[in-house]
Amino acid sequence: MNYNTILSDFSDGITTITINRPTKLNALNTTTIFELHTAFKAADLDFETKVIILTGSGEKAFVAGADISAFAHFEQEEGRSLAKQGQDLLFDMVENLSTPVIAAVNGYALGGGLELAMSTHFRVASSNALMGLPEVSLGLIPGYGGTQRLAQLVGKGRALELIMTANMIDAQKALSYGLVNHVVPLEELLPKCYALADKIKSNSSLAIAAAIRAVNANYTDGVNGYDVEISEFGKCFDTDDFVEGTTAFLEKRKSNFPGK
Ligand code: COA
Repeated sequence: MNYNTILSDFSDGITTITINRPTKLNALNTTTIFELHTAFKAADLDFETKVIILTGSGEKAFVAGADISAFAHFEQEEGRSLAKQGQDLLFDMVENLSTPVIAAVNGYALGGGLELAMSTHFRVASSNALMGLPEVSLGLIPGYGGTQRLAQLVGKGRALELIMTANMIDAQKALSYGLVNHVVPLEELLPKCYALADKIKSNSSLAIAAAIRAVNANYTDGVNGYDVEISEFGKCFDTDDFVEGTTAFLEKRKSNFPGK
């Protein structure tokens, strides 16, 4: 598939999706959001893809936000539908994918860029990365889930401080907040993500998908996460992956999960 604003490459069980508008610091416009939706969906449906890594092209930015020039003239209804369409097509979709998604945050992750990183399953940052939700400096609030996911990840007080000040935090502070899981020099960012992806893909992809559903259930209104866990736990027993995992353990060999 050919894209105009992103790249998608598959190798050895891992699909790497790169947002590719470096001259605009990879800002998200409508095309980028549609293309990301298509690429994530294709990777999730691809049986060979066990992990997805999301990053930005160049050395300066992961994503410097939603493309401000695309919505500068909007009024209320257009603003509402911009947020709704983005959340439905991309941000909620990524969070709920069955395939694990790691964000490799390689520079600025601002506004919609940090919101996109927060919708992935976890984040690794390069030491030059800067993160923030500067929307109130534009007379807006975060509209791609930032008010919800930032509070979930770092706590309400830190989230409100970051949102109200519009300040950026560096990678070390993001690490201390639990916003990112690891910080490494820029040249080690993708190797670190590939090493994590290799470890993940050696495990049962069906069990990982079930774990994502169970963890996400905690953040879904009206759903009891413990009940979802019980149900997903039970379903694992009917999979070939469970038979392979337990048999391999008893036979003292490495598992070779069929993903069924
Ligand atoms: N939307 C649209 N274009 C953006 C953008 C965004 N969110 N962020 C950066 N760009 C564009 C700039 O307009 C500039 O384009 P140009 O060369 O055609 O003028 C290009 O990317 C490079 O950005 P520039 O501002 O020159 O780089 P810088 O190193 O001086 O500053 C930032 C980097 C990230 C501090 C600055 O670009 C910025 O504040 N961006 C907006 C961040 C933001 O508010 N995001 C939330 C949006 S809701």
